[in-house]
Amino acid sequence: MKIRKAVVTAAGWGTRFLPATKAQPKEMLPLVDKPMIQYVVEEAVASGIKQIIIVTALGKRAIEDHFDRSFELEYALKQKGSSELLEKVQQTMELANISYIRQKEQLGLGHAVLTAKELIGDEPFALFLPDDIIESKIPAMKQMLGVYDRYGSSVIAVQTIAPEESKAYGVIAPRQVEKRIYQVLSLVEKPEPEDAPSNLGIVGRYILTPEIFDMLEKTTPGKGGEIQLTDGLRLLLKKQKIYAYQFQGTRHDTGTPLGFLKASVEFALKRPDLGPRFKEYLQQLNLSN
Ligand code: G1P
Repeated sequence: MKIRKAVVTAAGWGTRFLPATKAQPKEMLPLVDKPMIQYVVEEAVASGIKQIIIVTALGKRAIEDHFDRSFELEYALKQKGSSELLEKVQQTMELANISYIRQKEQLGLGHAVLTAKELIGDEPFALFLPDDIIESKIPAMKQMLGVYDRYGSSVIAVQTIAPEESKAYGVIAPRQVEKRIYQVLSLVEKPEPEDAPSNLGIVGRYILTPEIFDMLEKTTPGKGGEIQLTDGLRLLLKKQKIYAYQFQGTRHDTGTPLGFLKASVEFALKRPDLGPRFKEYLQQLNLSN
């Protein structure tokens, strides 16, 4: 069955970025001049998925405004003759067909995904966590859709992690079936390094069959007292096969201030209009330190 819909979870408090996220969504923080959530919406669209459901919460209105029309701004830019900026603003609005649903209590990632159940219905869907921004020639989700087409089961993105990083990831127990593709034998949320079943950590891209919703309804609070998607997937594993795919590309973990800063620097250096001058500035900083 073709994947037509994507869920993007954007309901967390963004506590790691306080006080910046006290009155604005973390997902709206920009990498250079584009909000993080726009990168993942663009990845969904570039992967052929145009129906997007964003799970929001209290205080996330700026996300809706961002993807909406702004007559006043468009008018002002037209008056000024700023056609390039006008195009950027209009592109944001035309990008995709977006619906919003609110998670009324922040009970965890699994619960946030469950919030989208009625809007997804009985079909497989893609899931994006906007803390993970992936740069790749072929969009990471598009690569995963290729795996889904062949195996017809849920697919989760993984990457190699250092042993001490296991506490920040869901970690899988894999059985390799071909290059980059694994059958998931088990999975555990944020294990201690000595308990990690492998060095393959889950990254925020998933293709999920609709049966995940029944499992999430049965999932009890796990790590951190939250309803964890990883725990829901472990229940799903009792009924269906799940595959893991080691995508090609660079993943930026923008969920922490350090990862966010690193991604900002890398993205800025790649920008033709800013990169050369920014590089010069960084080199000069280096010399004086
Ligand atoms: C979530 C998932 C985790 C996954 C990670 C990827 O954790 O629960 O399994 O490895 O995203 O970014 P979070 O980073 O939201 O705590």
